[in-house]
Amino acid sequence: MQHSFVNGGWIRRIYPSDRAAFAAHLIRLDHESRHDRFAMAVSDDYIERYVTGFFDAPGDIAYGWFVDGVLRGAGELRQAHSPSADAERVAEGAFSVEKEFRRGGVGEALMARIVRAARNRRDSVLCLLCLAENRSMQGLAKKFSADLTFERDQITGRLLARHVTAASLWQEWADDMRGLVGTLVSAHHHAEPVAPKPAG
Ligand SMILES: CC(C)(COP(=O)(O)OP(=O)(O)OC[C@H]1O[C@@H](n2cnc3c(N)ncnc32)[C@H](O)[C@@H]1OP(=O)(O)O)[C@@H](O)C(=O)NCCC(=O)NCCS
Repeated sequence: MQHSFVNGGWIRRIYPSDRAAFAAHLIRLDHESRHDRFAMAVSDDYIERYVTGFFDAPGDIAYGWFVDGVLRGAGELRQAHSPSADAERVAEGAFSVEKEFRRGGVGEALMARIVRAARNRRDSVLCLLCLAENRSMQGLAKKFSADLTFERDQITGRLLARHVTAASLWQEWADDMRGLVGTLVSAHHHAEPVAPKPAG
């Protein structure tokens, strides 16, 4: 089981109800990080549209790292469209941690979830969105050399063949359930008390 509490914050799945928090996190990334995350310069509007579209794509998932209820880091897994049913399943991974929270193991914890999710979905190739000069992402990817073999471009990782086990599916499910329960409990605590309607 992967730890949900990392460097002072909680990791859980990002749900459609987190849309605004997800967009706000990506918009808060400084200019350079935003460029590294999307591999190009993007506007706030682009990010809003990206996040809205994210939840429309079946099979795409994201994990968020929340500090005091604010989303400060994200790991995303998006399925690429296979040209045929027999083609290998290809997915794309992307990561973002706000600058002031880096080098605390959050990127690594998010990537561990994305690698597990890709394997559980039987993806065989995990492309990491990473520019050639992005040293931090390259360093992060290297930590997963037991799971991925990198092709010559250093950014396309082939997931090393490992059978999907009932245990790894169960671990993903259990982590997701724990996160969901945590979200519901927190929403309950923050809900405004509803004043009873006057009788009559
Ligand atoms: C890449 C990114 C997500 C890493 O997040 P993070 O929380 O700092 O990562 P971690 O603390 O888990 O670091 C894991 C490993 O990555 C490597 N790493 C992280 N930052 C690094 C840096 N600036 N230089 C070199 N290696 C780095 C190290 O090997 C590190 O392990 P270590 O701390 O034991 O040495 C973060 O730098 C980021 O959001 N960058 C901007 C967006 C981006 O480039 N995304 C990737 C492309 S989608």
